[in-house]
Amino acid sequence: MSSEQILPSVGVLGLGMMGASLAAALTQRGYHVYGYDTHQASLLEAEQIGLIASPLSPNATELVSGDVFIIAIPVLAVANYSALIHQLLQRGVIVTDICSTKGYLATLFAGSPGSENLVLGHPIAGSERSGVVNANASLFEEQSVILTPLEDTTAAALTVVRKLWHQIGAKTAVMTVAEHDQILAATSHLPHFLAFSLVDTLAGDAQNRKIFQYAAGGFRDFTRIAASDSRMWHDIAQTNQAALLQALDGAIEGFSALRAMIAEGDSNKLMGVLTRSKVARDHFGAVLQQRSYRQYKVDSMDFIAKAGGRVVGDIRVPGDKSMSHRSIMLGALADGVTHVSGFLEGEDALATLQAFRDMGVVIEGPERGEVVIHGVGIDGLAPPPSALYVGNSGTTIRLLSGLLSGQQFSTEMSGDSSLAKRPMRRVTVPLAEMGAAISTAEDGTPPVRIAQAEKGLQGIHYELPIASAQVKSALLLAGLYAKGTTTVIEPAPTRDHTERMLRGFGYPVETNGDTISLVGGGRLTACDIDVPADISSSAFFLVAAAITPGSDLWLRHVGVNPTRIGVINILRAMGANISIKNERNVGGEPVADLHIQYAPLKGIDIPEDQVPLAIDEFPVLFVAAACAEGKTVLTGAEELRVKESDRIQVMADGLQALGVNAVATPDGMIIHGGAIGGGEVVSHDDHRIAMAFSVASLRANDDIVIRDCENVATSFPNFVELCASVGKTIEIEKHG
Ligand code: S3P
Repeated sequence: MSSEQILPSVGVLGLGMMGASLAAALTQRGYHVYGYDTHQASLLEAEQIGLIASPLSPNATELVSGDVFIIAIPVLAVANYSALIHQLLQRGVIVTDICSTKGYLATLFAGSPGSENLVLGHPIAGSERSGVVNANASLFEEQSVILTPLEDTTAAALTVVRKLWHQIGAKTAVMTVAEHDQILAATSHLPHFLAFSLVDTLAGDAQNRKIFQYAAGGFRDFTRIAASDSRMWHDIAQTNQAALLQALDGAIEGFSALRAMIAEGDSNKLMGVLTRSKVARDHFGAVLQQRSYRQYKVDSMDFIAKAGGRVVGDIRVPGDKSMSHRSIMLGALADGVTHVSGFLEGEDALATLQAFRDMGVVIEGPERGEVVIHGVGIDGLAPPPSALYVGNSGTTIRLLSGLLSGQQFSTEMSGDSSLAKRPMRRVTVPLAEMGAAISTAEDGTPPVRIAQAEKGLQGIHYELPIASAQVKSALLLAGLYAKGTTTVIEPAPTRDHTERMLRGFGYPVETNGDTISLVGGGRLTACDIDVPADISSSAFFLVAAAITPGSDLWLRHVGVNPTRIGVINILRAMGANISIKNERNVGGEPVADLHIQYAPLKGIDIPEDQVPLAIDEFPVLFVAAACAEGKTVLTGAEELRVKESDRIQVMADGLQALGVNAVATPDGMIIHGGAIGGGEVVSHDDHRIAMAFSVASLRANDDIVIRDCENVATSFPNFVELCASVGKTIEIEKHG
């Protein structure tokens, strides 16, 4: 590299589509690029259209120590240039490549003099088109490049190659040669050879030729890559033989199994393959990143809740989260097929659904709230292939802790950064008393690990130290697998969906005042479940209407189970004008339409017996209190400190930032109603905090910017759209 140059010179060996694209991208970024190709016409063309500055001489004498030489020819042809490459390495030229297999090149050059300057690499980008004419300078933008340095490759050489890729917009990752060849065999080489083989088989049969004439999207999509460069793929098969054979064997095994399912007309198994692969395909980005389904698409999202707005309309909010979780769990354990409608397609309930798919349950959908669960019976779950990832969902991890304690296999559950901080001992301690082999991280937080209970589970008589439906439900679900009776005593009533739904599945559960019990060893029978709209999601609209002059809103088909209506009771006590209409019973759960019109609110002391009945609604009830005349006092709600965020502190901080007189206390809050200003608040990845401050903006005198709102999708995926439909504007700003 000459001293006045900042960028190294680059020589590209091979001006096929890939090499030419790379040359074009580097030339565009100001690199001096030399090119070489045995095919004279390609070389001339590349020079003429300015992809390269000039041809590279036979001994590449233009390149000096610190410059870069890129091998872009089919991998087996590299042996023809090994003398030149050895020479370059010894001269201090950094040699890299873009070949699809790495093991072969590593064997050619590893340990030879100068091999510390060798940085093998592979861009995960390409096209089935070949030649200089198809060069595309933006081919590598946003694409990943895998670099596989050898043991003696220097850090300096690696840095030069990384920088070069970053300059043309690519991202780099580092792994070993063996790891690369194994991964690529499965993700790239196998699908290519399947496509080649399929087209060859079909084209070889005269009868089948017609299919090319009528080939529709499916055939075209599946076989696009069969038009790829023959020499390159020939070389890949030869240089990554072992890993490719292993991948092919796996695929052949899969085909044989699929063939048998089709031959035997085994619709359940067939549906299993189809539903599992659909979800894996739709969400593989999320699965790969171990993040919840929708969240992975945006790194972060802010809401700009515009000041003011109206609340007028007639809406139905999405399905109840608690019931959606339970419908999957009990449907999976039942004998027969359970049909669910009104299922909440939010991240949390989807995490539960995925967990059961991972344990071998065939689940169709969700498709517009419809889910079909092919129950496997109480003892039919299969061990999942790896740890269950439950995202942000406390309900999934706690209820499954109970359910999985009774299985004949081991499992582990983990979740996102918010879930990783939440207390699990409240379930693991009583479950261990039942004989479960269950453990957590040292501080009682996830991951939760469950081994098979050596002596099985034993029924328990347990007085809950806290009013928690999740703990109660975990114990009842474990109780299904326990010998004898499991009895739970509640300090205060909590949501009773588990009990009601178990009865709906034909499983006897006895409730006697504060005491709930069931006897283990029974079976569940599939049924149909109509999940009503979630009262916790409705609460945002109830408060929105309660604080906005001129509002007039209908909320349809809302679940009004008496253990959930704390929000209605509290708002009514504050003076809200809410009527409950068309009360009916749907599948064992009370449902009604709610009508609310504006009426001025006044501050109250919230009765402590209402706390468990409105446990998820306090973020938005604090907003109602901020808009009420006088003082509102909440006590007895320390549980709020261990929800998706510390909802007492986070709400007090946010309200203060908006100029509200709100003081956090250890077990609640004191709020003096008054004016709400605009400003910036942080949701701390808590969906209900984000939505509560969105509602506050109805009465704010300026816009409220709410940071980190992507988790709204955990419970209320269409919140922003429904707000817009009643006259409340929230703008979304995405980052990353
Ligand atoms: C839930 C119970 C409540 C609630 C959570 C859902 C359930 O948690 O906050 O959103 O579905 O059982 P706790 O049982 O921890 O109070």
